[in-house]
Amino acid sequence: MRIGIFGTGGMADALGTQWARAGHDLVVSGRSDPAALAGRLGAATGTWRETAAFADVLLLAIPAGAIGDVLAAAGPLPGKVLVDCTNDPGLTGTPVASRIVTDAHVVKAFNLAHVDVWRMTPPVFDGRPLSVPLCGDDPAALEAVSTLVRDVGAKPVRAGGLDRAALLEATAAFAIGLWFAGEDAQAILTPVS
Ligand SMILES: NC(=O)c1ccc[n+]([C@@H]2O[C@H](COP(=O)([O-])OP(=O)(O)OC[C@H]3O[C@@H](n4cnc5c(N)ncnc54)[C@H](OP(=O)(O)O)[C@@H]3O)[C@@H](O)[C@H]2O)c1
Repeated sequence: MRIGIFGTGGMADALGTQWARAGHDLVVSGRSDPAALAGRLGAATGTWRETAAFADVLLLAIPAGAIGDVLAAAGPLPGKVLVDCTNDPGLTGTPVASRIVTDAHVVKAFNLAHVDVWRMTPPVFDGRPLSVPLCGDDPAALEAVSTLVRDVGAKPVRAGGLDRAALLEATAAFAIGLWFAGEDAQAILTPVS
């Protein structure tokens, strides 16, 4: 797959490392010089627009508040898959994905686990592989992102259309708030039996 990564921070590094290992072709764009991350990933660098033109799949690994400006700079994205891992920075549960204006096929994914989890190879907890909920409307886009989830060593879970992405974002806000408060958020979502 040809993957463009918007951002050079923790999530770009963690997921980019996994996808480079899986053999995908990567191009990285950043507000700061993306050369260091691209070097680690064996990737090329590009402007927002060059990376968008190259990619079949684009990862938004930037703050939610920067999405509008970055997508405007990237230009039209017809038929591209846009993976949105962003969370509302205030952790208020304010929807992000539903406010993204684009002609790409948006898939909400990778927003629920901490960046260190995305560095695990593979992310397995008590013998259970991490499950990664995906929200999106386009079947081919969901299939592409499912492949990228499996490349991380995790299990994709189809969690409904993009209209349900706000639930994923609210879940992240709720769980992260509990982690920050020192609670064991994982203990809340118990197995059925
Ligand atoms: N960290 C986590 O555990 C985690 C988990 C799940 C989801 N997320 C989400 O993933 C996204 C990225 O998180 P991260 O942890 O990778 O953050 P990060 O390490 O702080 O990296 C953020 C990246 O976005 C760039 N950026 C910041 N403001 C920008 C702007 N106005 N325009 C363009 N680029 C800008 C930064 O560039 P500079 O280097 O120039 O500042 C950097 O490349 C966030 O939306 C976050 O909510 C994070």
